[in-house]
Amino acid sequence: MEFRMLSRSAAETEAIGETLGKLVVPPFVVALFGDLGSGKTTFVRGFAKGLGVPIEAVRSPSFTLVNQYEGRVKLYHIDLYRLDDISELIPLGFTDIMSEEDAVCVIEWAERGYLVLPDERLDIYFDHTDSENERWITFHPQGETAKAMIEAIL
Ligand SMILES: Nc1ncnc2c1ncn2[C@@H]1O[C@H](COP(=O)(O)OP(=O)(O)OP(=O)(O)O)[C@@H](O)[C@H]1O
Ligand SMILES: [Mg+2]
Repeated sequence: MEFRMLSRSAAETEAIGETLGKLVVPPFVVALFGDLGSGKTTFVRGFAKGLGVPIEAVRSPSFTLVNQYEGRVKLYHIDLYRLDDISELIPLGFTDIMSEEDAVCVIEWAERGYLVLPDERLDIYFDHTDSENERWITFHPQGETAKAMIEAIL
């Protein structure tokens, strides 16, 4: 199953994130793919908001690669842009974080950690268009829980 939609503004991308953030139940992993400036962090801001996290708290993790927020559940915001090598993910504890029962995980630059992503997850691809304020957002749910989430927002 694949579902693609056109976002016409940053606010729209944020709203899509918020809708999913309201629905998500831990444990769950959302993997975000796409180029610089394609809208991943914008999505995460909305997603966090939907989970009851104050939106001001949301910024891309830099040196630590992971931020933790407290909403109605725990949210880990991972950004693998600065990851040097995938072999670091296990010693840094990422595989443990992704399997925490009471947490939701959202991962920017998930392609850089592809090999250690759990089988059950929601993949979301962000693509630029010819228009500065439009992005294609493509959902690839992996597993039944993710599929049900996407069906719920259709
Ligand atoms: N439809 C849209 N959806 C999302 N962002 C948009 C859209 N239109 C314009 N933008 C702008 O594009 C930029 C997206 O930046 P954002 O930080 O979300 O990207 P990113 O994918 O996280 O990049 P990076 O890989 O650098 O972390 C923002 O400045 C946002 O305002
Ligand atoms: Mg980002």
